[in-house]
This record gives sequence, C-alpha cells and structure tokens, in this order.
Amino acid sequence: MASVPSAFDLRSWLAAAEAAGDLLRLEGVDAALEIGAASQVNYRRNRPRALLFDCIPGYPAGMRVLTGSLSNPGLMGASLGLGTNLSDHALVAALRGKPAEWAASATTFAAETVADGPVLEHALHDDAVDFSLFPCPTWHDRDGGPYIGTGCAVVTVDPDTGVHNLGAYRIQVQDGGRSVTVNIEAGKHGSQHIQRWFAKEGRAPIAATLGQHPALLVVAGTEVPAGISEYDYAGAMLGEPVPVVRAPHTDLPLAAEAELAFEGWVYPDRTRPEGPFGEWTGYYSGGTAEVLCVDVCAIYHRADPINLGAPPGKPPHDYSYMRSVMKSAMATDALIGTGLGGVAGVWCHEAGGGRSIIAVAVEQRYAGHSRQAGYLAAQHPVTAYMNRLVITVDADVDPRNLDEVMWAVSTRCDPEIDVDIMRRTWGSRVDPLGQPGRPNYNSRMLIDACRPFERLGDFPAVAEADPEALAQVVRRWPELEL
Ligand SMILES: Cc1cc2nc3c(=O)[nH]c(=O)nc-3n(C[C@H](O)[C@H](O)[C@H](O)COP(=O)(O)O)c2cc1C
Repeated sequence: MASVPSAFDLRSWLAAAEAAGDLLRLEGVDAALEIGAASQVNYRRNRPRALLFDCIPGYPAGMRVLTGSLSNPGLMGASLGLGTNLSDHALVAALRGKPAEWAASATTFAAETVADGPVLEHALHDDAVDFSLFPCPTWHDRDGGPYIGTGCAVVTVDPDTGVHNLGAYRIQVQDGGRSVTVNIEAGKHGSQHIQRWFAKEGRAPIAATLGQHPALLVVAGTEVPAGISEYDYAGAMLGEPVPVVRAPHTDLPLAAEAELAFEGWVYPDRTRPEGPFGEWTGYYSGGTAEVLCVDVCAIYHRADPINLGAPPGKPPHDYSYMRSVMKSAMATDALIGTGLGGVAGVWCHEAGGGRSIIAVAVEQRYAGHSRQAGYLAAQHPVTAYMNRLVITVDADVDPRNLDEVMWAVSTRCDPEIDVDIMRRTWGSRVDPLGQPGRPNYNSRMLIDACRPFERLGDFPAVAEADPEALAQVVRRWPELEL
C-alpha cells in the first residue's frame, strides 16, 4: 500500500536538493517578469541550481515558485532515482535501456489510489475558484499573460480504455483568474483523449497538477508510448507506486502529494485566445490561437503551495537540459535498436532545444556507414520531429562537446560531398521559419564530419597528448584539474 510521504513528495525532494547544495532560495522577486529573468540568469550558469522563490510581492509568504528543478546532472539524477554524482555522460549511460524497462514494468508499479492526501488540504470550489490567489509568473515580456502551468502535469483519460495520460501542456490564466486555457498541440495523447470524449459525450474531463515532484514533470514532458499511464511509468522509474487521490468531480487521479491542482471540463466551443508565449525554439513563434478553456470546478492545494515553473525560451532554458538528457538516451537506444553497429554516442544538443541539433558518433565499419547513421538519426520516430541538423562524427570526437563537433566539421567534412539535404520532413507549428497557413514541413541538413572511410588509414594524425601521458601529469600535478 502506498504511504505518504512517498518518493514523489516535492518537499522531501527540496530538502535533498538543499542538502546537496543544489537549491538557492530567493525572496522579494516579482512574479511579473522578475522570476522569469532571475531564472534565465540561473540557466546561463555553468551549473544551474534549483531556485525557490518565496515572499513574492503581492502574495502571502509561503506561496512559492520553483524553477530549474531539472537543470543539472545532480538534480536530474536525484529526480530519476539514479544518484546525484553522475556526469552528463554517466547520466545518459545510466539511462540507456531504462525507458523500455520502465514501460515494460509500468503495470507492476501501477498508481495506488489513497483515500486522502495533502493536495486536498484546501479546496476552492465553483465561485471561489481564483488562480490569481497563487503566484502566476509572467515569464517573458511579450507573453500573452501569466501562466500558472509550465512545469505541470495535465491529466486526461482514454474514454474507451480508462488509461490515464499525463502531459506537460502549458496553462495560461484567463478571465482574471476564473479559468485557464490548456495548450495541447494536435496529436498529443491528451488531445486525442479530449477529441474522443467530445465525439462521445460532448465534453471532456481534465485535471492538472501545477506543482509536483519533478519526476512527474519528466514523464509528463517526455513521449511515453500511448496506452501506458505516465503515473505507472513514473512508479517504475522510482520503484514505488505514485499515490493518487481521485478528484471529486471528474474522478481523475491527482498525485496525492501535489502542491496545487485543479479539475474541470472542456467543451468543443469554449475557447479563449492563448499566447503568444516564449517557445522552446527561443522565439514567440507560436503566435496567438484559440485554445480550449477549462470550466474549472475546483482548485486544490496544500498549505503554502509551490508552483513548479518550467518556462522555455532561448536555450538554455528551464527544461532544455532534461530534454537533452532524455532525448540523448532514447535516441541512443533507438539508433542501436535499428541494428546499426558502431554507435559510440548520440547527443541531442540544448542549443537546438534537444530536438533540432543531433550529433552522432560512430566507429566506422564500412563505406557509407557514417552517412547511414546520419539518415537514420534524422528520421527515426524518436528524433524526427523538428530536427534540423544531424552531424555525424568519428568515435574519437565527443558528440556532447560542440567545440569538438565543430572542429570535426571544419577538418573532416568537405561541404561539396559531405552535406546532404532532406526535404519536406516533419516540422512544427512553432518553427520560427514556418509560415501561417502552410503545412508544417521543414528540411534538414546532414553533415558527415567523419574522416572519409577510404582515408581512415592515412588521414593525418590528431595532434594532442597521449591519454596515458595526460593521466600521468594529472596524477603528479592534480592542481592542473582544479
Ligand atoms: C515544460 C514543458 C512544457 C511543454 N509544453 C507543451 C505545450 O504547451 N503543448 C504541447 O503540446 N506540448 C508541450 N510540451 C511537450 C509535451 O509535454 C510532450 O510532447 C509530451 O510527450 C506530451 O505528452 P503525450 O506524449 O502524453 O501527449 C512541453 C514539455 C515540457 C517538458
């Protein structure tokens, strides 16, 4: 039986992050733009930390906003139950094979319904519903308004199978705090559920947690296969079922230890203008659109709730590191899963929001091998969406290190023969190069920055110290590395 506090309690997570020196508390920072700006300063640090904002002007002390929760390897490792001392590489190595394992064992760790939980400590029903009582950051200066949901987990249910879905879909405050819009892109699982409810019943139940353990943000914001509840998947991830309470009006499951949550209904004809919003591409490229607006039945919250913020923007942004790590691990599994040999590493770079720029390192085994790796990485279902650039490098180049990757491009790639273009590929509505009313195609460039296969034997040697000589000098003069 699930017990509370469980592994999914955000407050225990905060205490661990603080003990590890990975949490910074800030007071007096304004929800209108200042929290967003302070968070941006943090994302640009060598090692960002989690930021916990308290005493936010205009709100009671104790009502907090948390950002940067997944912005460094220690925080990511802690959130995924993999340990706090891993490097980027070790984190991806530890994640290899895990998504498939979690998917396979999800039912073993199915979410457990508990009778009560801290999220139900306080409730605001019907006319008392007012999101403006809680700090709702306006993240970027051209955003269409404050957003109460960025690091959120939106709950929907498949009307036919009863399987629940969690999706991180942004939530803008509407009607002065009386309601919210939930921006779900067409085709996402949450949108598919809602469309099926509309066809069957003319309305759809919806709920969301707006502050919860970061593991639930990872699963909500990552493409978990359809038919698997992200709650169960998260249970498999941390080896313990997520305790959930049933939302009284819609019966949707809410993480019992969530900080802040709501439930309600959406109707096909009830929409509001949503956006613009600073997108993960680094632009306000999505514009304003009519988006489903929720008839909110109730807001639930713990005492002194914490809103989990995860604003995107020009990278690095709040979840670009998380996206890079998760995509890199999934892309490595996917590429090896195609049967391609010699894959030495894959990195989906933060500069491309974890999607647009992919570097693949291969141990070349035959003529055409490196090009094959590039084409597969550009079109595998795990990586194809909104990719723009795939760079293939030899195994002696670290695909995580853009300087090394560009060194290989500038020395091993002959643009005349080593650059291929793929056309009419899978783009995105938020592509800054997209044009309104046109289909969301894009094109992509494959750069083969591997030594030519036929010159592997006589290509000039790399001018750098031998690894043993390096290790020896560092052993003798350790201050070199401090
Ligand atoms: C912090 C964050 C915010 C996101 N915002 C949106 C959004 O507003 N709309 C959207 O469709 N996808 C958004 N995404 C991407 C989806 O969460 C992601 O594609 C996820 O897999 C969707 O869940 P689903 O596969 O169950 O549909 C966001 C992801 C993260 C991590």
